[in-house]
Amino acid sequence: MDTAPFRTLPDVATLQDEAARIVAGTLKQTADGQRVTIALSGGSTPVRMHELLAGIDGIDWSQVHVFWGDERTVPPDHDESNFRMARETLLDRVEIPSQNIHRMRGEIDPEQAANEYEQELREVFGTGRTEVPRFDIVVLGMGADGHTASLFPGTSALTERDRLAVANEVPQLDTVRITLTFPVLNAARQVLFLVAGADKADPARQAIVQDGDVPPAGFVHPEPGQLLWLLDAAAGSQLPG
Ligand code: 6PG
Repeated sequence: MDTAPFRTLPDVATLQDEAARIVAGTLKQTADGQRVTIALSGGSTPVRMHELLAGIDGIDWSQVHVFWGDERTVPPDHDESNFRMARETLLDRVEIPSQNIHRMRGEIDPEQAANEYEQELREVFGTGRTEVPRFDIVVLGMGADGHTASLFPGTSALTERDRLAVANEVPQLDTVRITLTFPVLNAARQVLFLVAGADKADPARQAIVQDGDVPPAGFVHPEPGQLLWLLDAAAGSQLPG
Protein backbone atom coordinates (compact mmCIF):
# COMPACT_ATOMS: atom_id res chain seq x y z
CA MET A 1 0.00 0.00 0.00
CA ASP A 2 1.35 3.43 -0.95
CA THR A 3 1.95 6.20 1.52
CA ALA A 4 -1.29 8.08 2.10
CA PRO A 5 -1.41 11.72 0.96
CA PHE A 6 -0.37 14.01 3.79
CA ARG A 7 0.70 17.57 4.50
CA THR A 8 2.63 18.67 7.54
CA LEU A 9 1.85 22.18 8.78
CA PRO A 10 4.11 24.15 11.18
CA ASP A 11 1.67 24.12 14.09
CA VAL A 12 -1.87 23.16 15.08
CA ALA A 13 -3.26 26.64 14.41
CA THR A 14 -2.01 26.55 10.83
CA LEU A 15 -3.42 23.03 10.51
CA GLN A 16 -6.82 24.26 11.69
CA ASP A 17 -6.68 27.26 9.33
CA GLU A 18 -5.99 24.96 6.39
CA ALA A 19 -8.62 22.45 7.45
CA ALA A 20 -11.27 25.18 7.66
CA ARG A 21 -10.28 26.34 4.17
CA ILE A 22 -10.53 22.83 2.73
CA VAL A 23 -13.85 22.02 4.41
CA ALA A 24 -15.31 25.38 3.35
CA GLY A 25 -14.25 24.64 -0.22
CA THR A 26 -16.23 21.41 -0.18
CA LEU A 27 -19.26 22.96 1.52
CA LYS A 28 -19.32 25.79 -1.02
CA GLN A 29 -20.26 23.13 -3.56
CA THR A 30 -23.78 23.92 -2.37
CA ALA A 31 -23.81 26.30 -5.31
CA ASP A 32 -26.95 25.99 -7.47
CA GLY A 33 -28.82 24.32 -4.60
CA GLN A 34 -26.74 21.14 -4.52
CA ARG A 35 -26.96 19.41 -1.13
CA VAL A 36 -23.65 18.69 0.63
CA THR A 37 -23.13 16.15 3.40
CA ILE A 38 -20.43 16.25 6.07
CA ALA A 39 -19.55 14.01 9.01
CA LEU A 40 -17.85 15.85 11.88
CA SER A 41 -15.30 14.50 14.32
CA GLY A 42 -15.15 14.86 18.06
CA GLY A 43 -11.98 15.59 19.99
CA SER A 44 -10.14 18.87 20.56
CA THR A 45 -8.43 19.50 17.22
CA PRO A 46 -11.63 20.30 15.31
CA VAL A 47 -12.77 22.93 17.86
CA ARG A 48 -10.96 25.91 16.36
CA MET A 49 -11.52 24.58 12.83
CA HIS A 50 -15.28 24.74 13.54
CA GLU A 51 -14.98 28.28 14.89
CA LEU A 52 -13.09 29.39 11.78
CA LEU A 53 -15.55 27.60 9.48
CA ALA A 54 -18.46 29.39 11.13
CA GLY A 55 -16.92 32.69 10.06
CA ILE A 56 -16.40 31.81 6.39
CA ASP A 57 -18.83 33.44 3.97
CA GLY A 58 -20.31 31.84 0.88
CA ILE A 59 -21.55 28.57 2.38
CA ASP A 60 -25.29 28.01 1.93
CA TRP A 61 -25.87 26.18 5.22
CA SER A 62 -29.48 25.51 4.23
CA GLN A 63 -28.01 22.93 1.82
CA VAL A 64 -25.53 21.39 4.26
CA HIS A 65 -26.44 18.21 6.15
CA VAL A 66 -24.31 17.57 9.22
CA PHE A 67 -23.69 14.13 10.69
CA TRP A 68 -21.13 12.76 13.15
CA GLY A 69 -18.48 10.09 12.76
CA ASP A 70 -19.04 9.00 16.32
CA GLU A 71 -20.63 9.95 19.60
CA ARG A 72 -20.20 9.17 23.23
CA THR A 73 -23.03 7.50 25.16
CA VAL A 74 -23.96 10.71 26.95
CA PRO A 75 -26.79 13.24 26.61
CA PRO A 76 -26.43 16.03 24.03
CA ASP A 77 -25.74 18.65 26.72
CA HIS A 78 -22.97 16.62 28.39
CA ASP A 79 -19.42 18.01 28.50
CA GLU A 80 -18.21 14.95 26.56
CA SER A 81 -20.84 15.14 23.83
CA ASN A 82 -19.41 15.54 20.33
CA PHE A 83 -22.73 17.06 19.32
CA ARG A 84 -22.48 19.67 22.09
CA MET A 85 -18.96 20.61 21.01
CA ALA A 86 -20.07 21.07 17.40
CA ARG A 87 -23.20 22.95 18.42
CA GLU A 88 -21.24 25.42 20.55
CA THR A 89 -18.34 25.92 18.11
CA LEU A 90 -20.19 25.81 14.79
CA LEU A 91 -23.88 25.01 14.51
CA ASP A 92 -25.13 27.77 16.80
CA ARG A 93 -23.09 30.24 14.77
CA VAL A 94 -24.47 29.50 11.29
CA GLU A 95 -27.91 29.55 9.68
CA ILE A 96 -28.40 25.80 9.42
CA PRO A 97 -31.94 24.38 9.63
CA SER A 98 -32.43 22.01 12.55
CA GLN A 99 -33.66 19.29 10.18
CA ASN A 100 -30.19 19.33 8.57
CA ILE A 101 -28.52 18.35 11.84
CA HIS A 102 -28.42 14.58 12.25
CA ARG A 103 -27.33 13.81 15.78
CA MET A 104 -26.40 10.37 17.10
CA ARG A 105 -28.63 9.93 20.16
CA GLY A 106 -26.03 9.12 22.81
CA GLU A 107 -28.62 9.38 25.55
CA ILE A 108 -30.54 6.25 24.57
CA ASP A 109 -29.60 2.58 24.36
CA PRO A 110 -26.48 2.52 22.11
CA GLU A 111 -27.67 -0.38 19.95
CA GLN A 112 -30.97 1.41 19.35
CA ALA A 113 -29.13 4.66 18.66
CA ALA A 114 -26.87 2.94 16.12
CA ASN A 115 -29.82 1.28 14.39
CA GLU A 116 -31.70 4.58 14.30
CA TYR A 117 -28.66 6.31 12.84
CA GLU A 118 -28.29 3.74 10.12
CA GLN A 119 -31.95 4.27 9.21
CA GLU A 120 -31.49 8.04 9.20
CA LEU A 121 -28.43 7.75 6.96
CA ARG A 122 -30.36 5.60 4.50
CA GLU A 123 -33.32 8.00 4.51
CA VAL A 124 -31.27 11.17 4.03
CA PHE A 125 -28.95 9.67 1.42
CA GLY A 126 -31.78 7.76 -0.23
CA THR A 127 -29.75 4.57 -0.25
CA GLY A 128 -31.19 1.08 -0.19
CA ARG A 129 -29.99 -1.71 2.04
CA THR A 130 -27.14 -2.72 -0.25
CA GLU A 131 -25.82 0.75 -1.06
CA VAL A 132 -23.41 2.67 1.19
CA PRO A 133 -24.06 6.42 1.66
CA ARG A 134 -21.30 8.54 0.14
CA PHE A 135 -20.48 11.58 2.24
CA ASP A 136 -19.11 14.59 0.43
CA ILE A 137 -16.58 15.00 3.22
CA VAL A 138 -15.74 13.15 6.43
CA VAL A 139 -13.54 14.91 9.00
CA LEU A 140 -11.62 12.54 11.27
CA GLY A 141 -9.11 12.74 14.07
CA MET A 142 -6.79 10.10 15.44
CA GLY A 143 -6.01 9.20 19.01
CA ALA A 144 -2.55 8.35 20.36
CA ASP A 145 -3.63 4.69 20.14
CA GLY A 146 -4.40 5.10 16.45
CA HIS A 147 -8.19 5.03 16.81
CA THR A 148 -10.36 7.14 14.56
CA ALA A 149 -14.00 8.00 15.08
CA SER A 150 -14.72 5.39 17.76
CA LEU A 151 -12.98 2.58 15.90
CA PHE A 152 -10.58 1.65 18.67
CA PRO A 153 -7.84 -1.01 18.52
CA GLY A 154 -9.10 -4.47 19.40
CA THR A 155 -12.80 -3.59 19.25
CA SER A 156 -15.52 -5.41 17.35
CA ALA A 157 -16.50 -2.46 15.14
CA LEU A 158 -13.20 -2.81 13.26
CA THR A 159 -14.49 -5.88 11.42
CA GLU A 160 -18.01 -4.58 10.66
CA ARG A 161 -18.51 -4.60 6.89
CA ASP A 162 -22.31 -4.52 6.55
CA ARG A 163 -23.78 -2.09 9.02
CA LEU A 164 -23.31 1.66 8.61
CA ALA A 165 -23.23 2.51 12.32
CA VAL A 166 -22.74 0.34 15.39
CA ALA A 167 -22.57 0.47 19.16
CA ASN A 168 -18.95 -0.37 19.91
CA GLU A 169 -17.80 -1.61 23.31
CA VAL A 170 -14.47 0.03 24.17
CA PRO A 171 -13.06 -1.88 27.17
CA GLN A 172 -9.96 0.35 27.35
CA LEU A 173 -12.28 3.27 28.13
CA ASP A 174 -14.83 1.16 30.01
CA THR A 175 -17.55 2.59 27.80
CA VAL A 176 -19.68 2.03 24.71
CA ARG A 177 -19.45 4.43 21.77
CA ILE A 178 -21.62 4.88 18.68
CA THR A 179 -19.54 4.99 15.52
CA LEU A 180 -19.72 4.97 11.76
CA THR A 181 -18.05 1.90 10.29
CA PHE A 182 -15.23 1.55 7.75
CA PRO A 183 -17.60 0.93 4.82
CA VAL A 184 -19.09 4.41 5.31
CA LEU A 185 -15.75 6.14 5.91
CA ASN A 186 -14.25 4.48 2.85
CA ALA A 187 -17.19 5.36 0.61
CA ALA A 188 -16.70 9.10 1.21
CA ARG A 189 -15.78 11.40 -1.65
CA GLN A 190 -13.26 13.11 0.62
CA VAL A 191 -11.72 12.21 3.99
CA LEU A 192 -9.71 14.79 5.90
CA PHE A 193 -7.68 13.78 8.96
CA LEU A 194 -6.70 16.46 11.47
CA VAL A 195 -3.84 15.17 13.65
CA ALA A 196 -1.78 17.21 16.09
CA GLY A 197 0.63 16.43 18.91
CA ALA A 198 3.83 14.49 19.41
CA ASP A 199 1.93 11.57 20.92
CA LYS A 200 0.40 10.96 17.48
CA ALA A 201 3.75 10.73 15.64
CA ASP A 202 4.13 6.96 15.95
CA PRO A 203 0.59 5.96 14.98
CA ALA A 204 0.58 8.59 12.24
CA ARG A 205 3.65 7.03 10.65
CA GLN A 206 2.19 3.54 10.95
CA ALA A 207 -1.13 4.67 9.49
CA ILE A 208 0.20 6.86 6.67
CA VAL A 209 3.21 4.81 5.60
CA GLN A 210 1.41 1.51 6.40
CA ASP A 211 4.47 0.64 8.42
CA GLY A 212 4.38 -2.24 10.89
CA ASP A 213 1.29 -2.62 13.03
CA VAL A 214 -1.20 -0.44 11.14
CA PRO A 215 -3.66 1.18 13.59
CA PRO A 216 -7.39 1.56 12.86
CA ALA A 217 -6.92 5.03 11.31
CA GLY A 218 -4.65 3.38 8.76
CA PHE A 219 -7.58 1.39 7.38
CA VAL A 220 -9.34 4.52 6.13
CA HIS A 221 -8.65 4.41 2.40
CA PRO A 222 -11.56 6.02 0.54
CA GLU A 223 -11.86 4.62 -2.96
CA PRO A 224 -12.33 6.35 -5.33
CA GLY A 225 -12.57 9.24 -2.85
CA GLN A 226 -9.77 11.59 -1.86
CA LEU A 227 -7.78 11.12 1.36
CA LEU A 228 -5.66 13.83 2.96
CA TRP A 229 -3.92 13.83 6.32
CA LEU A 230 -3.17 17.25 7.83
CA LEU A 231 -0.62 17.01 10.63
CA ASP A 232 1.24 19.54 12.70
CA ALA A 233 5.05 19.31 12.83
CA ALA A 234 5.00 17.26 16.03
CA ALA A 235 2.56 14.63 14.75
CA GLY A 236 4.28 14.52 11.37
CA SER A 237 7.82 14.33 12.76
CA GLN A 238 8.32 10.69 11.75
CA LEU A 239 7.02 11.00 8.22
CA PRO A 240 9.21 10.99 5.12
CA GLY A 241 10.23 14.30 3.56
C1 6PG B 1 -13.80 11.44 19.71
C2 6PG B 1 -13.22 11.56 18.35
C3 6PG B 1 -11.87 10.90 18.34
C4 6PG B 1 -10.86 12.00 18.16
C5 6PG B 1 -9.48 11.54 18.51
C6 6PG B 1 -8.47 12.70 18.41
O1 6PG B 1 -15.01 11.23 19.83
O2 6PG B 1 -13.02 11.65 20.65
O3 6PG B 1 -14.04 11.16 17.36
O4 6PG B 1 -11.72 9.92 17.35
O5 6PG B 1 -10.89 12.46 16.82
O6 6PG B 1 -9.51 11.04 19.84
O7 6PG B 1 -8.83 13.69 19.32
P1 6PG B 1 -7.98 15.07 19.44
O8 6PG B 1 -8.42 15.91 18.28
O9 6PG B 1 -8.39 15.64 20.77
O10 6PG B 1 -6.53 14.69 19.37
